[in-house]
Amino acid sequence: MSPSNKSIVLLGGGAREHALAWKLTQDGASVHVLPGNAGIPNSHPHISALDFPAIKSFCEEHGAKLLVVGPEAPLAAGVADYFVGSDIRVFGPGRAGATLESSKVWSKNFMRRHGVATAMSWQFRSDKLAEARAKATELDGQVVVKFDGLAAGKGVYVCSSIEEAHAALDDLEAQHSGWFSFLLEAKLSGPEISIIGITDGTAIRLLAPSQDHKQLLAGDQGPNTGGMGAYCPVPFADDNILAAIRTQIIDPTLEGIQAEQFDFRGFLYFGIMLTPQGPKLLEYNARLGDPEAEVLLPALQSSLLELVEATFAGTLAQTTVRQRPGHYVGVVLASGGYPASGFATGFPISGLAELHPGILAFHGATRRNDAGELTTNGGRVLVLVGHGAELEDAVQYVYREAARVNFQDVYIRTDIGQRPEPVLATNW
Ligand code: AMP
Ligand code: GLY
Repeated sequence: MSPSNKSIVLLGGGAREHALAWKLTQDGASVHVLPGNAGIPNSHPHISALDFPAIKSFCEEHGAKLLVVGPEAPLAAGVADYFVGSDIRVFGPGRAGATLESSKVWSKNFMRRHGVATAMSWQFRSDKLAEARAKATELDGQVVVKFDGLAAGKGVYVCSSIEEAHAALDDLEAQHSGWFSFLLEAKLSGPEISIIGITDGTAIRLLAPSQDHKQLLAGDQGPNTGGMGAYCPVPFADDNILAAIRTQIIDPTLEGIQAEQFDFRGFLYFGIMLTPQGPKLLEYNARLGDPEAEVLLPALQSSLLELVEATFAGTLAQTTVRQRPGHYVGVVLASGGYPASGFATGFPISGLAELHPGILAFHGATRRNDAGELTTNGGRVLVLVGHGAELEDAVQYVYREAARVNFQDVYIRTDIGQRPEPVLATNW
């Protein structure tokens, strides 16, 4: 590739995009981020990731021939379709492929069509809430209610009683007006694991297995968030488990993508629960996970740029992925009050300059105020990532350093990377 071709435009503005920009820059690319944020070099806050004409003009002005998409919204809005026929290549699926993430009902039907292992489920429209209540009662409230649309990780209600299930359905009705669809899913149990790969729709190259910590409070308690921290690799994800995931979930998915002729180049995320009956797919995302990306990209020794290029060149199947040794732990520094709405932001952030140089600090939601100070600007403000030879080393290192960073009402979940080792069935 000639140097001029290494100009990349990256869409998005959170800590995942900071990690992507950091990695692609290490790989030798010159990266511009739309809109980015105060902590990401070469951010352009006046250009929205959804303003496709402005993105196109920007790419033309900067000679960028490669667009890498971080978040789901531009994918679901069809950014890859918009650039078809231009000389700008988009790393991220078209609208059809993005539906794997953007519609829970559609993706569940896709899983069924292609024999992907997943939970039993029942589909309803908003005029059938009474039937859904009856079904939830029949299942003794052991259900998960899933709104059929993008909801930033907040459209899912995991219920443990009939009262909770009915309350979830009431909430769904209160939150959404007009027609909507939703799923009732049988509630499964077991540890969760995120498997994320880079695919060209035929081959897939997997990054390290990782685990998110979606709930706000230690011990997996409290409301679901966009993710409070992540770590990789996952010590219990052995070859046996990964082989079962491959044959029961990943391979049938790729066969489905080919059978349905999706134009799919990008990250593909499998959110999996390891149940006593085997691995079950909870969800697809058509992008990198956040905060998984913030640990997976530092752990990736191979050039991400080369892997991305391989998806366009048709050489992904011959490309190997090398991981760095050791363990990576990322903790989110969040605004107090998140994930409820109405929490305060705009607080100055201190301590970043004192961090040990081995710590990576990815900015999720920061901005500079009129005085030029770095301030909080959203729920998940920063993700700090530490590395260690053992998982416990990485945990201690990142928490020690996180204590140096401060802003008013900062909240950090205290048990990232410290879940007890699960006991798993091995006779899948
Ligand atoms: P999803 O967005 O579909 O991945 O759901 C968000 C979270 O809800 C998952 O990470 C799980 O913790 C939980 N969840 C989703 N589906 C199920 C299920 N069928 N059984 C138990 N928990 C679930
Ligand atoms: N970490 C979960 C997600 O990105 O959806």
